Amino acid sequence: MNENVKIAVVGATGAVGREVLSALFDAGIDSERITALASERSDAVELEYGEDTLEVEKTTPESFRGMGLVLLATPASASRTLGPTAQAAGAWVVDASSAFRADGSVPLVLPAFNPELLGAGFKGKMVCVPSAVTSALVSLLAPLHKAFGVVRAQVTAMMGASSAGVTGVGELERQTAGLLSGRELEAHAFPHRIGFNLIPQVGDFLAQSPWTEEEAGWTLEAARLFGVRGDTPVIAGTAVQVPTFYGHGLSVHVQLKAAVPVEQARTVLKASPALKVLDAPAEKVYPMPMLVAADPTVLVGRLRPFPQAPEWLTLFAAIDNAGRGAALNLVEAGVRLLQRPA
Ligand SMILES: NC(=O)c1ccc[n+]([C@@H]2O[C@H](COP(=O)([O-])OP(=O)(O)OC[C@H]3O[C@@H](n4cnc5c(N)ncnc54)[C@H](OP(=O)(O)O)[C@@H]3O)[C@@H](O)[C@H]2O)c1
Repeated sequence: MNENVKIAVVGATGAVGREVLSALFDAGIDSERITALASERSDAVELEYGEDTLEVEKTTPESFRGMGLVLLATPASASRTLGPTAQAAGAWVVDASSAFRADGSVPLVLPAFNPELLGAGFKGKMVCVPSAVTSALVSLLAPLHKAFGVVRAQVTAMMGASSAGVTGVGELERQTAGLLSGRELEAHAFPHRIGFNLIPQVGDFLAQSPWTEEEAGWTLEAARLFGVRGDTPVIAGTAVQVPTFYGHGLSVHVQLKAAVPVEQARTVLKASPALKVLDAPAEKVYPMPMLVAADPTVLVGRLRPFPQAPEWLTLFAAIDNAGRGAALNLVEAGVRLLQRPA
């Protein structure tokens, strides 16, 4: 990678953007090379970068001049404009939002699964990464699919408030404190009160559809990712907003092409560098959102056979949604794009 390439992090003040800065710092990238951008609301806000401080700038079309890489950790509405603008300014662009995930002309890349796309020829200079839930699901299904064949996976995703960014985190904080002191506060970031509640709706419902955009996204993104190799497992399920701050928990039922002993499935999952198997229930060892902070792997455990249907496997997984599920994918994809031969 060219050591002088400038990198813009757009949405640097957000839940994902802050994790992107942390990942760039961990990758040893000097603060001189980083420009932290956000909306005008955050103009001149100061962010820590190791021992240095980055002053956030308001994003304008001129912000991308001279940038070699632009990492977009912005809402889809902002990415739709900023992505093409940054690309037109000559930068490589990686987007974390849903803006381009259904657009067949923009490669959808999960660096742990299909990094080859980042070195291949494609139109334009922009790629996007999948949602945090899709990242977790594809990471854990990929080795099972390769070894045994996966027909379908049914998931219930329990999603922490940070899935709605810093606004979601703030709302859960205020509602929890308010309710504990006898005050009920109005819901803004979520369709109902999230404090001491569960909401079976994450994001908006699709027009004339019983599925939310989040849920439909898993099916579509998994089909795009696996589709490259043909033989796509069908992924579907329910997204539930839960009153935790960071980390998602996923209850997953996997239908394999044939019955497979659980020990064999566990061995296959253990061999994947993208996963960490925590599966000793008798010792109370299993994945939980409280264990995922800053963990670059997806945690998998509670592996169980389903005696009445031996080709089904039940398991539980957890992922650091803003870190492993977004920021690390952005940074890993960006670094590989910069390694492409000129
Ligand atoms: N959170 C997750 O778990 C997760 C996981 C996977 C993917 N994603 C995706 O990642 C993106 C960021 O999510 P987040 O959770 O980090 O959201 P967030 O906490 O709300 O942060 C959004 C960031 O975008 C900035 N922004 C908003 N509008 C902008 C504009 N027009 N121009 C420039 N910057 C703008 C905000 O700046 P201000 O501070 O100035 O408002 C803030 O820095 C979203 O598309 C989300 O869907 C999130």
